[in-house]
Amino acid sequence: MKSLNGDKVVSIISEQTVFCPNHGKYQSRNVIGKTWTTCPRCQKDESDALEAVAEQKRRQDKQNELQRRVGEACIPARFRDRTFEVFNANSDSLRFALDFALEYANNFDDVLRAGRSAIFHGNPGTGKTHLSVAIGLYIMSHDQRTVLFSTALRMIRRVKDCWKRDSVDSESKIISLFASPDLLIVDEVGVQFGSEAERIIMFDILNERYEKRRPTIFLSNLDREGVVEFMGERVIDRLREDGGMFIAFDGESYRPNLAP
Ligand SMILES: Nc1ncnc2c1ncn2[C@@H]1O[C@H](COP(=O)(O)OP(=O)(O)OP(=O)(O)O)[C@@H](O)[C@H]1O
Ligand SMILES: [Mg+2]
Ligand SMILES: [Zn+2]
Repeated sequence: MKSLNGDKVVSIISEQTVFCPNHGKYQSRNVIGKTWTTCPRCQKDESDALEAVAEQKRRQDKQNELQRRVGEACIPARFRDRTFEVFNANSDSLRFALDFALEYANNFDDVLRAGRSAIFHGNPGTGKTHLSVAIGLYIMSHDQRTVLFSTALRMIRRVKDCWKRDSVDSESKIISLFASPDLLIVDEVGVQFGSEAERIIMFDILNERYEKRRPTIFLSNLDREGVVEFMGERVIDRLREDGGMFIAFDGESYRPNLAP
């Protein structure tokens, strides 16, 4: 048969009914040459499966990223599972502390905008490190914030190491290292000697964070007056200006409650 302009006409079947062993009959369309569309429901099942694998991978990547962050934050291994959920607030003072910590973590954007610091102080074993770590873990996993956990002694030692003649780091580099995380947690404030040089180091780090409006949580066994005396008026004054608060942890140590 010839068409009007003389070309040979080939009859083209563009659609046919095909049977899928899983889903029964479906209309298959010719794509090109011998290529036909496959069962649309099989295609959907396959893309759903691929999406599920991709989602699993994304979740895994996020988990790995969180693990990496927690590692970089130098959170002590013993505290890496210390979340709000496992904190047992069994007194008014601890309930206040837990509410404060929850509010702090949940509104960390506001905390950051104001540079609002906090001082957790009180008896040994009352959960100061636990709740500060819970805040850190929360903002790392929910807001992808950076956190650094250190003791006052380690911070001071790190800066003092720069004074050695063979040091490769400069003092200002180390200070800006402590000033850069979104949240710095300084444990065991008041344990170090508290010499004038150490006070100055603390002040320099704090002042740099203050200028950048970056919040810090301090943990101490001293009472309120002791903390003020130890940290010095200049530091305390800066913390107060940005709405910093003292949170008292009263009562007995929780440590005897923990299974060996
Ligand atoms: N209210 C609580 N609920 C559950 N676990 C708690 C509670 N308080 C403390 N713990 C647990 O008890 C142990 C001691 O608490 P944590 O180290 O936080 O105390 P601390 O106030 O930092 O003490 P220190 O001043 O001696 O450093 C930790 O393992 C912590 O997880
Ligand atoms: Mg502690
Ligand atoms: Zn099918």
